[in-house]
Amino acid sequence: MKKLIIANWKDNPATAKEAEELFYFYYDAYSELRDKIDLVVCPPAVYIQELAAISKSMPLGAQDVSWESSVGPHTGEITADVLKNLGVEYVLVGHSERRYGIGESDEVISKKLKAALSAGLTPVLIVGERNNQDDRKKIIEEQLAIDLDALDPESVSKIILAYEPVWAISTSQDGHPDTPQNAFDALGEIKNFVFETYRVRPDAYRSVYGGSITEGNVAAFLGHDEINGALIGGASLRKEEFSSILKIVSELK
Ligand code: PGA
Repeated sequence: MKKLIIANWKDNPATAKEAEELFYFYYDAYSELRDKIDLVVCPPAVYIQELAAISKSMPLGAQDVSWESSVGPHTGEITADVLKNLGVEYVLVGHSERRYGIGESDEVISKKLKAALSAGLTPVLIVGERNNQDDRKKIIEEQLAIDLDALDPESVSKIILAYEPVWAISTSQDGHPDTPQNAFDALGEIKNFVFETYRVRPDAYRSVYGGSITEGNVAAFLGHDEINGALIGGASLRKEEFSSILKIVSELK
């Protein structure tokens, strides 16, 4: 299975021109590596149309989606159908900056997953505990139980599952990377839950780690066969470093 790198630009950069420059840079870097790795860039929604026009062959992801199942009177929302029509293939759902920064509940996250799946988008469901001392397994299982509620096994196997502890995000207070072993263990807990609940085997979907990934630590995380990729925030805005991450991952055995 090719490793998957998901670049989460969050609310950056400040102008469409800068977004285009960054995108072109990654497009070039990725064009030589596309046989070896998969890359999904998730820019702010306002830049999607322009970036989709630049490249039909570098997959785009959105950072959020409406839970409404079809277009209509939903002021401020962007539905999965609209994203799909723009050429978007992936969507982040359940990022902690939306869970805790905006107050998105697991019930809302569950509705968003369903809306994304029924429009044919691939959701990246992000779960993880807030503090290092939290009961990780309990929190992850509680999140998954509601987020994936009432989905059939086939739908569950279409979701990319991401473990991203909030304390490990580079912009969190004292944010620092998890250890590869802990990330591996947490992904194991996610996989066990999915298997116990849905009988979906770990090789049926991809599972990735996110939180302070840099060019210095990416190989240690993705060197694990069972960690299928990385969700990268801060480093995905640093051109040279991100290109180097792509190269390092493409060379992993
Ligand atoms: P980070 O962000 O790589 O800057 O820690 C990851 C994320 O929030 O998705």
